[in-house]
Amino acid sequence: MTETYRPKLHFTPAKGWMNDPNGMIRHGGLWHLFFQHDPNSIHHGPMHWGHAVSRDLVHWQERPVALYPDALGTCFSGSAIAAPQGVKLFYTAHSLTPEGRDFQVQCVAHANDTLTQFQTDTRNPVLENPGREVFRDPKVIWHQDTARWIMLVTEGQSIAFYASEDLRRWEYLSSFGACHGQHGKGVWECPDLLEMRYQGKAFWVLIVSISEDAPGGGSGTQYFIGAFDGTRFTNVNPAEAVLWLDMGRDFYAPQSFFDPGGPPTVMAWASNWSYARQTPTKAFRGAASLPRELSLTRSPDGLRIAQRVPEAVRNAFANQRDRATFHHGFHLEAEGARDVTVSLFGETVPHLRLTRGTDDVVTLTSRRPDHDGLTGFGHEVITRFTWPLSRPLDIELFVDRGLVEMFCAGGTVSLTNLHFPAVPEGPVTLTHHASGTRRAVPRHLSEGGHNG
Ligand code: FRU
Repeated sequence: MTETYRPKLHFTPAKGWMNDPNGMIRHGGLWHLFFQHDPNSIHHGPMHWGHAVSRDLVHWQERPVALYPDALGTCFSGSAIAAPQGVKLFYTAHSLTPEGRDFQVQCVAHANDTLTQFQTDTRNPVLENPGREVFRDPKVIWHQDTARWIMLVTEGQSIAFYASEDLRRWEYLSSFGACHGQHGKGVWECPDLLEMRYQGKAFWVLIVSISEDAPGGGSGTQYFIGAFDGTRFTNVNPAEAVLWLDMGRDFYAPQSFFDPGGPPTVMAWASNWSYARQTPTKAFRGAASLPRELSLTRSPDGLRIAQRVPEAVRNAFANQRDRATFHHGFHLEAEGARDVTVSLFGETVPHLRLTRGTDDVVTLTSRRPDHDGLTGFGHEVITRFTWPLSRPLDIELFVDRGLVEMFCAGGTVSLTNLHFPAVPEGPVTLTHHASGTRRAVPRHLSEGGHNG
C-alpha cells in the first residue's frame, strides 16, 4: 500500500487509476466520494465509479466499485442527490460510434439507503444525446425557488441547463458559455453550480473545468459569479474576465458534496490531463485534492471565492509527528520582507516566490522543474493579485509527500501542484530576500535568509 509517491492525507485508490471525483454526497453521517476509476489498470481504461467513505474528511475507507460499464457504455463523470425517492447517481454512459466517435448520454442509478448497492435504471438513458459529440458530466442540484431539479451538462464549450420535476423527464432550459471566460482549445467539463451568500445577498457560482489552456498549461478550473433564476445563468462580471479556482496545474474537475445546509465543500482530481497518464506511481495513479470549503469574499480585486481546508483536515496535518513530511498552516507575516521564496523537499530551486510591489500588487511565481521521464510536466505560472502592503500576507502550505496545496491572501489565491522529487519528504525552506522585519516562522521550517 505504501509507495514513494502515495500521499498520506489525500485520498488515493488502493490500486488502479482514478480521475475526477464523482457523485459526492453527505449521507447517513458519511461523506461519500465516488470517482472515475479503472480498478484493473493504472490507465484511463473503461471507466467505473470507485467509491470511498469518510466520517471526518480525513480518513477514507475504500468500498467496492459502485458502477460498472454496461451495454450503454462506460461510466463517465456525474453527481449524486438525495431525493425523496432515495439517493440517485447521475452519470454519463460513454460509448463509441461505429465511426469511432464519442457518444454520450445521461443515465441514473438508484442506491439503497446505506449506499452499498446500486442499480442502474432499466429505462436509461434519462437524457438522450441531442446530436453533440461532447455531452456529459451531469451535475444535478435542487433549485428551491422553482422547486425543480436542475441538471448541468457540458456541451463542449458551453454548459447546458435542464430542469425536471420527477427526475425522469428533462426539459432543456438554456446554455451558458459563448464568449464568457476561458475557451482556447479546451473542452469545458464537469460543471457545478452553487448557491452562495455574501453579506446576505445570494449569488450563484458556476464552476467549469477546461481541458486545455489553463494558466499553467493543460487543464484547470475556472468559475463565474452570477445569478441563476431557475432557467438561465447570468455572469455579473464582464464576459472576458477569467477567474481561476486554482493557479497550479493539478486541481481539476472539482465537485461539491450534495449537502444541503452545509458550507459548499469541494474536492478535485489532483492531476492534469497533459501528463496524468504518465505520472510515476506503481499500484495506483491519481489522487483527490484535499477537501476545501468555499465562501464568497470581497478581495481587493473584487468578489472572489475563498477556499479553506476544513478544520479536521487542518488538525490532521498539524498532528503529524513527522514534520518533515507535513507542514501545516504556517502564517507568514511577510511585512517588511518584500520577497519570500519557498523551496520544497530540500531542493535548492525556489518552487514558489511571492513578491510584494510598492503598489499593493503581489506577484506569485510558481516554478516546478520537469521530472525525469515526465514530459510537459515543467510548470511556471506568474499571477498577480492585489493585497494591501499594510496587511500581512497569509500563506498556508499543505505538503503531503509530493502533493502540495498552497493558499494565500485569505484563501482567494490557491495553487496545487504535484511533485515527484528524489526525496518527497525533504524539508521546506522559506527565504526572505529583502531587508526588513523577520517575522515568526514556525520552528519546524528550516529557514534560510539573505539581504538584498
Ligand atoms: C474530466 C473528464 C470528464 C469525463 C471523465 C472521463 O476529467 O474528461 O469530462 O466525464 O473525465 O473519465
